[in-house]
Amino acid sequence: MLAYAEAGEGPAVVLLHGFPLDRSIWEPQLSYLAGSYRVIAPDLPGLGKSEPFVEGERPSIPAMARLVLDLLDHLGVEQAAVAGHSMGGYVTLALYKAAPDRVAGLGLVSTQAGADTSEARQTRFVTAEKVKEEGPGALVAGMGTRLFAPGVDPEGEVYRRVTRVIGNTSVAGIRGALFAMADREDLRSLLVQVKVPTLVLTGEEDQLIPAERSQVMAAAIPAAVLVKVPGAGHLPMLERPAEVNRAFEHWLDLVY
Ligand code: MLT
Repeated sequence: MLAYAEAGEGPAVVLLHGFPLDRSIWEPQLSYLAGSYRVIAPDLPGLGKSEPFVEGERPSIPAMARLVLDLLDHLGVEQAAVAGHSMGGYVTLALYKAAPDRVAGLGLVSTQAGADTSEARQTRFVTAEKVKEEGPGALVAGMGTRLFAPGVDPEGEVYRRVTRVIGNTSVAGIRGALFAMADREDLRSLLVQVKVPTLVLTGEEDQLIPAERSQVMAAAIPAAVLVKVPGAGHLPMLERPAEVNRAFEHWLDLVY
């Protein structure tokens, strides 16, 4: 069973974090939305406090989605609004594909629907080797400042908090997530079939998944609202929490 945080009562909202992070990135939204909703934020496999995929099990995005559904079964949640950040967005789309009836609304934050190019896959395998040799610090060096809008202060509280999370992540968890992302399916054809209220949110200055990809995704989804957060990079929920809370509130008003 995935480890998770839970707060509040009411209609369910699930928040799925990205790579190589954990549920703590959603703390500002968890505490804000808990005033009106039952908010559930799991740690994806091998990240935060969740166990990695077991030896011999192939890490995959659909397997992560299955574990989130198992958690919802365990918690007695029939339907939820599901929002995912980046890799968590890949899981959100896979979950919608596997079990659309369990999803009341979709939130796609700083993410994309396409698969990796062969070059991007190759880079993931190189990174997985590097992390095996050097530990999670290699990721901090590789992507630390690029997670944020240009000009982030590496001495600032948010930067330090995020790099601390990455530095504490297990090598097995990082490698499993990299292999799962490298293997993921192109789900762009799913977008036109989305029938639930959808929020597509991006930082205007995202250096990892450019904001244009959110624009394209939102245009393909029939009932999508696109929100671009000025001054935010790949982590708008931490860089601009008040704007993201407001956008989630409007989205959830449409869902419930
Ligand atoms: C993430 O933030 O989850 C990752 O950067 C996504 C990715 O590497 O594709």
